[in-house]
Amino acid sequence: MNGLSTVINLLAYVTALVFVVGFLNKVILYFKTPNPLLIPTTPAPTTTMGVVARMIPEVLFFRSLLKGGTAEKVLWVGGWIFHVTFLLIVLRHLRFFTYPVPGIIMAFQGLGILAGLLFPIALLILIVRRFTNDRMAVITLFQDYFVLILIIAIGLTGLLLKYYVRTNLVDVKAFILGLLTFSPAQLPDSPIFLIHFGLVLVLLAYFPFSKLMHAWGILVSPTRAQADNPREARHVAPWAQ
Ligand code: HEM
Repeated sequence: MNGLSTVINLLAYVTALVFVVGFLNKVILYFKTPNPLLIPTTPAPTTTMGVVARMIPEVLFFRSLLKGGTAEKVLWVGGWIFHVTFLLIVLRHLRFFTYPVPGIIMAFQGLGILAGLLFPIALLILIVRRFTNDRMAVITLFQDYFVLILIIAIGLTGLLLKYYVRTNLVDVKAFILGLLTFSPAQLPDSPIFLIHFGLVLVLLAYFPFSKLMHAWGILVSPTRAQADNPREARHVAPWAQ
């Protein structure tokens, strides 16, 4: 293994550690944060099962966003396409992480390519929306552009790898399986792959410290995830007991 391979293998492990520890740390923090008041957006369900039923269409279809005005509908289109295509791309990529590749992952290969092509378009909608809507432009921070540009760069370098500067996929798989089995292997000899993979590491390392934590946050968001039951049950914050 050459020096660069050793560095990238090490960086991948450090990144995985930062991601897992950082993510779990935030999950614990969210759980520990006091919820002194019941503030679900009404009309809200009065039971836990009702909350689950409310959350499912929220998570799968971003339902409440569809109830907004034009700006929210644009966000819905960009956001929904982005999340679905991201999921399909990840499913397609699992062929690098598994051996033998399960049939279900093989079944998603074609859809995954289509998703890869739609992916930058969805991200373009999300970034243009931040420039063109006055209200959005005011509240947009550097970090909002940063994640969008980072993810666009990951998608575009992926498309470059697929259509213009092919890399040896056998080497890619050996490298990834080497990481997963703690027997580090040679980095594929492809600068674009190095950039694609390096950007993914940046994304993973940054994830727990960014707004991308909404992926977990939505599940513990009081306005959505609380049952509206102040009459059925006494609600006492832990510190008030
Ligand atoms: C945030 C995570 C990632 C995103 C959004 C992403 C996105 C993409 C996209 C859109 C493509 C082009 C379409 C395709 O062939 O599927 C692609 C290709 C590729 N990606 Fe990724 N990728 C990610 C992570 C990774 C990782 C961790 C690896 C490491 C194995 C990787 C390796 C590759 C390779 C080798 C190709 C070329 C595939 C081919 O030639 O058929 N990607 N990626």
